[in-house]
Amino acid sequence: MNNIKIETINYNLYYGKFHALRDINIKIPEKKVTALIGPSGCGKSSFLRTFNRMNDLIPGASMTGDVLIDDQDLFKIDPVSLRQNVGMVFQKPNPFPKTIFDNIAYGPRVNGLKDHKKLEEIVENSLRSAALWDEVKDDLNKSGLALSGGQQQRLCIARALAVQPSVILMDEPAASLDPIATLKIEDLIHELSQNYTIVIVTHNMQQAGRVSDYTAFFYTDETRTGRLVEFDETKTIFTNPSDQRTEDYITGRFG
Ligand SMILES: Nc1ncnc2c1ncn2[C@@H]1O[C@H](COP(=O)(O)OP(=O)(O)OP(=O)(O)O)[C@@H](O)[C@H]1O
Ligand SMILES: [Mg+2]
Repeated sequence: MNNIKIETINYNLYYGKFHALRDINIKIPEKKVTALIGPSGCGKSSFLRTFNRMNDLIPGASMTGDVLIDDQDLFKIDPVSLRQNVGMVFQKPNPFPKTIFDNIAYGPRVNGLKDHKKLEEIVENSLRSAALWDEVKDDLNKSGLALSGGQQQRLCIARALAVQPSVILMDEPAASLDPIATLKIEDLIHELSQNYTIVIVTHNMQQAGRVSDYTAFFYTDETRTGRLVEFDETKTIFTNPSDQRTEDYITGRFG
């Protein structure tokens, strides 16, 4: 078995009185891609937001159980430093209304880095890692908003990489992109998993099959409370799932 990067033990999440996630136990392996799949409303985004403590920002949200990152209690880590270590990329690309350079340099500058040479280095390395450098190297002073949707998403990935995280969370990162841009993001995710732990939410079963090493299937019944039905290697989930609900979902019988 691989090293475990993130672990949850009997994790429950509530929005006010609503029980959104029940008793989730999972061990997310380091430097692998883990896909979270399941029907709409089963709590995938809520679960993902746990790992950078973004649920803390939602009034009325509360949690029980344990969440560990690198064997440390995640809720004891200062949220600002946690969010540097655990970067996030959203469904809709959200570059800042700044130049490409300043988008990437933003995080390092917030951390106090002023040396322009060092910032240049970080910008180039981050853009290279996000497979965007060749397309933008002559346009670093152009607005990030002037890029195509797929380029904007890679810019957001580069921005997340610039502060040297070890985990990247992605919530349907290709949902707003065309098929070519989607394949580029998928290649990139695969590439990045050599150095980063990636947790990705996707509704696209082919995509989960293509990009992930492990898959977690979430499901919710009439109570609307989300549960983790099954977690295993992606090839097992897709070829030989142990729960009928998983099979029904991946074969498109519901959801
Ligand atoms: N901020 C919030 N306040 C109250 N309830 C919320 C909040 N965010 C999500 N929920 C509820 O928690 C449940 C899980 O929502 P979540 O967005 O995590 O699902 P999801 O699996 O990501 O769905 P989708 O596939 O549609 O994105 C839903 O019933 C939703 O209505
Ligand atoms: Mg969601």
